[in-house]
Amino acid sequence: MLKEIFEQPKTIENALRGRIDLDESTPKFGGLNMSISELRSVDRIVIAACGTSWHAGLIGEYLFEEFAHIRTEVDYASEFRYRNPPLDKNPLVLVITQSGETADTLAGLRESRRRGHKVLALCNVVGSTIAREADGGIYLHAGPEIGVASTKAFTSQVAVLTLFALFMGRIRMLSNQRGSQMLRALEGIPAQVQSILSRDLEIKEIALRYAHCEDFFFLGRQYNFPVALEGALKLKEISYIHAEGYPSAEMKHGPIAMIDEKTPTVFVIPSDAVYEKAYSNLEEIKARKGPVIAIATEENTRIRSKADDVIFIPRTLDPLYPLLAVLPLQLLAYHIAVARGCDVDKPRNLAKSVTVE
Ligand code: G6P
Repeated sequence: MLKEIFEQPKTIENALRGRIDLDESTPKFGGLNMSISELRSVDRIVIAACGTSWHAGLIGEYLFEEFAHIRTEVDYASEFRYRNPPLDKNPLVLVITQSGETADTLAGLRESRRRGHKVLALCNVVGSTIAREADGGIYLHAGPEIGVASTKAFTSQVAVLTLFALFMGRIRMLSNQRGSQMLRALEGIPAQVQSILSRDLEIKEIALRYAHCEDFFFLGRQYNFPVALEGALKLKEISYIHAEGYPSAEMKHGPIAMIDEKTPTVFVIPSDAVYEKAYSNLEEIKARKGPVIAIATEENTRIRSKADDVIFIPRTLDPLYPLLAVLPLQLLAYHIAVARGCDVDKPRNLAKSVTVE
């Protein structure tokens, strides 16, 4: 798992390689097998996936809505396969899967194709069942992922979803300028990920201070809400600690009742458009004596006086923060699990690829 976490500068670079056309300020893809006019007429995107891939899909929802103004919904593949959603004339079904073999995701794909909908797959394993049965797709090029807890596949999925959302935007209303600004910032992500990884020791020290805790909250807003879910899932999967991910503003509607001095919150709070709102959510946690580990943007000095611990990430554009913010969460989960004597590469009760219902 640690090896795969540390591969991410390279794997994100591989996900972007050859797919950025700066002259035209647009991403480009080889395997979509759909014409530009077919893609332009898509009026709704339905994303189906499981586990970590579902979390990537949730980020995709924000991306497609912001950059391409396409209505997007995300479903657990296990629910999607048995629903009967009324889909419009031109839906596009997007399945996201590292392995390309997950039974529920495959069933969702088959059901969608039976109804005549186009299905694209975002997949890592070349030649897998889902890659073969989809109408087209985009490979992640992350290399084999062996660790049961998915890490590098997630950042590759988010990188590819960002590219695809920008592509869908550029064939609609997204300006050349905004396209180029996003693509340039994306190209800077691998080096920024590297700089976060170089703080591993610092993250480990923080992890050790909290390794004895039995309950955690993970909070974030907007683009970073799915990151919070993913952070909680990583911790549950490999350390067996109870963890919950929430959109931070939702805490006041119930979960904040759980907060006390023994329940730490990992708060993803970069300096983005919702920072001030998130900051007041953070103050509400502190007012209940909850310890806070903040994932914040470098040069945010104010957060130091409020949070108990801070892990800094470099500045980027708002939609790209998930690609940076998830790194400290993966490392926190890893170090906490190791400190508790858990076998992170063989977590109990889990399989890398779930090929049964
Ligand atoms: C299993 C794995 C998870 C993974 C999920 C979906 O539960 O343990 O790490 O996110 O399946 O897998 P997929 O290969 O479809 O992305």
